[in-house]
Amino acid sequence: MSIIRYGIIGCGIIHETHLKAIAALPECAKLVAVCDNNPEALRKTVEKTGVKGYASAAELVADPDIDVITVCTPSGLHADHAIMALNAGKHAISEKPMDIDLSKADEMIAASKRNNRLLAVISQTRYGDGAQQLHKWIDAGKFGRLIHGNARLFYYRSQEYYDSAGWRGTWAMDGGGALMNQGVHYVDQLIWAMGLPKTVYALAGCLGHERVEVEDTVSATIEFESGAIGSLTATTCAYPNRGGLLDVLGATGSAQIRDAKLVYADFADGTRFDPTADQGTAALDPRLGGFVEHYTQLRDITQAIVDGRQPEITMQDGRNALQLVLAVYESARTGRVVTL
Ligand SMILES: NC(=O)c1ccc[n+]([C@@H]2O[C@H](COP(=O)([O-])OP(=O)(O)OC[C@H]3O[C@@H](n4cnc5c(N)ncnc54)[C@H](O)[C@@H]3O)[C@@H](O)[C@H]2O)c1
Repeated sequence: MSIIRYGIIGCGIIHETHLKAIAALPECAKLVAVCDNNPEALRKTVEKTGVKGYASAAELVADPDIDVITVCTPSGLHADHAIMALNAGKHAISEKPMDIDLSKADEMIAASKRNNRLLAVISQTRYGDGAQQLHKWIDAGKFGRLIHGNARLFYYRSQEYYDSAGWRGTWAMDGGGALMNQGVHYVDQLIWAMGLPKTVYALAGCLGHERVEVEDTVSATIEFESGAIGSLTATTCAYPNRGGLLDVLGATGSAQIRDAKLVYADFADGTRFDPTADQGTAALDPRLGGFVEHYTQLRDITQAIVDGRQPEITMQDGRNALQLVLAVYESARTGRVVTL
């Protein structure tokens, strides 16, 4: 297999996970350059990795040694940086959310098609073992008709977290709060399990933090195109951190995942989940502990680039999640039911 050469824009918190995931894929991927407009952040990563460092995205995307660029900058810059990469002939991988603006997400998709380059959006929690097993059961029809999907993102983020970087908790660069930033993973998982949403009604507020303009708590009721009913809550006020939960209820079964693991699953045909079973791929390969889900998604994307196919998690999946987040915000702002 040929080696796909990676560049990274944005050397902050999440880029550390990308560094580890790329380093764990020596058979197909190699980091060749990084970029950050903060000289100190750039210096640290260049010293650690020994790769080329650029002070601007324009210089990075012009590097002929790069095949694909992962965008790890603040959410409000994802479209700008991914489109720069695509227009320079590189493949592009955006961290979640795809962007904070739906028309810019559409421009990303158009740039991918126009330049015939792959565009992917990170949604690594789909690769948790519990989520993968849940989908095997959905695909096998074990739930029968899907009736209810309930996603709850019960996270805790301190006041210091919101104060730690100027872009956090702002409409302009974070694009929202608990739902856009932390909750978008479970928005994607909810749609993956239940299908596309049709209408949404939501309430949102900033209830547990100060000097934060976006919501730290939001709750929405969703009607899916299938007729199933959904419930979606995201908060960063769940001290000390209660994780992400997804319940799927169908006519012939129900299951719950918490973070990457199954909590329960029972089906009318007698299939049951054994809670004492070992559920961890990370446990099977301790080398990947902490970043196994990013590793698995980047492995699929790298293979997709080599094969000239779409990745398992598509750019349309990224758009669908963003569209629902924005519809929730519109409903909370207007007090109306929003049709997608
Ligand atoms: N998939 C996940 O689980 C996950 C987890 C954390 C963050 N994220 C996403 O990753 C993105 C970054 O989050 P973070 O926590 O790493 O943020 P961060 O603030 O720690 O890092 C962002 C980096 O981008 C750099 N940057 C900003 N503007 C730039 C520009 N114009 N050119 C080059 N570099 C620039 C900053 O200097 C900083 O080093 C966000 O969109 C966030 O939603 C995803």
